[in-house]
Amino acid sequence: MRSFVAQQVKQMPPSGIRRYFDIAATMEDVISLGIGEPSFETPPHILQKGVDSLVAGRTGYTSNAGLIELRQAVSCYIERLYGISYHPAKEILITVGVSEALWLALKAILDPGDEVLVVQPCFVANTAAVEMAGGIPVIVDAYVETEFQVTGAQLESKITPRTKAILISYPNNPTGAILTPQHMSEVAAVAAKHDLVVISDEIYERLVYGVKHQSFSSLPGMRERTILLSGMSKSFAMTGWRIGYAAAPEPIMEAMTKLHQYLIMSAPTMGQYAAIEALYNGDPDVAYMRGEYDQRRRLIVDGFNSLGLTCFEPRGAFYAFPSITVTGMSDEQFCDALLMEEHVAVVPGSAFGKSGTGFVRASYTNSYENIEEALERLARFMTRHG
Ligand SMILES: Cc1ncc(COP(=O)(O)O)c(C=O)c1O
Repeated sequence: MRSFVAQQVKQMPPSGIRRYFDIAATMEDVISLGIGEPSFETPPHILQKGVDSLVAGRTGYTSNAGLIELRQAVSCYIERLYGISYHPAKEILITVGVSEALWLALKAILDPGDEVLVVQPCFVANTAAVEMAGGIPVIVDAYVETEFQVTGAQLESKITPRTKAILISYPNNPTGAILTPQHMSEVAAVAAKHDLVVISDEIYERLVYGVKHQSFSSLPGMRERTILLSGMSKSFAMTGWRIGYAAAPEPIMEAMTKLHQYLIMSAPTMGQYAAIEALYNGDPDVAYMRGEYDQRRRLIVDGFNSLGLTCFEPRGAFYAFPSITVTGMSDEQFCDALLMEEHVAVVPGSAFGKSGTGFVRASYTNSYENIEEALERLARFMTRHG
């Protein structure tokens, strides 16, 4: 019998971070700094609204684009945070996480062979999503020298007549980098000059430390060419509810909604009810979790630096991204050895792109005590390998 799997899928590499979770799951007393997921449970008042919706019998599909009450809540939320106005019925779509929104955004704008500038290091799905949408990912490497912020010149050097879009994600997974206003305006200038769409994945928007997040679409002239993506997963500890959203000008939104309607029908109903509560009344929860993450962030960044693993200050998300080159190991060797010898799981930076080579991603969503213990184990490891 012939192989039925499509060539495009066969050639797609598996996610480079899964392996570490799979190994870690087979070991006892592992401290995982591997997973990119909040350690908090969904705040009770948000959870209750989801439960209430089930008990009230709201177990059917919603409108394709999502409950209008939720789209109104998203519209108010974006306006409240950034002063940008999106029409709830025409410019907002509720999706199955940012994961779905990202695929829809790309599929909605790409003709076969269109190029997308993908800034790396980045979320592992980004290049695969461009390819599956028929586009060509053109990698733009951001480096530690600019704290992993992309520059206008780096983008400019990759422009061709086929360039259609720029895909950015700040605060960033895996580096924890944010984009300063200066760098944001450089990206905006390139987008305007070459008439590009900017897909801005801002899923970590509420998790910033000592800085204020500015949404890319709030920049002058950018609202009309930006597809803004965000969702409930990270800020509200709601990864399993699978609710994200996209906001974009009407013609793009119409295309995304058409695709979503055929692909998904509607995002989970229970999650949509919970999301309404989160967006209107979840600010104190976000503030609490951000405060907790911030303490863990300081602990882990100081810990890495004091062990000689140089780590720039991550100002967003919940990841630290120290350099491990001092050990003489590759980032993969480092992760393998640390997991086997000390039962601490981190993931290799190269899994997120070439410019992540020589770094590891350590998520600081684990408890303060566990991070302390992980640092003690790491100190032992460094006496052998430092
Ligand atoms: C940058 C980034 N975008 C999107 C996602 C996926 O988010 P969601 O749970 O909303 O699908 C993640 C999850 O790790 C992420 O890090």
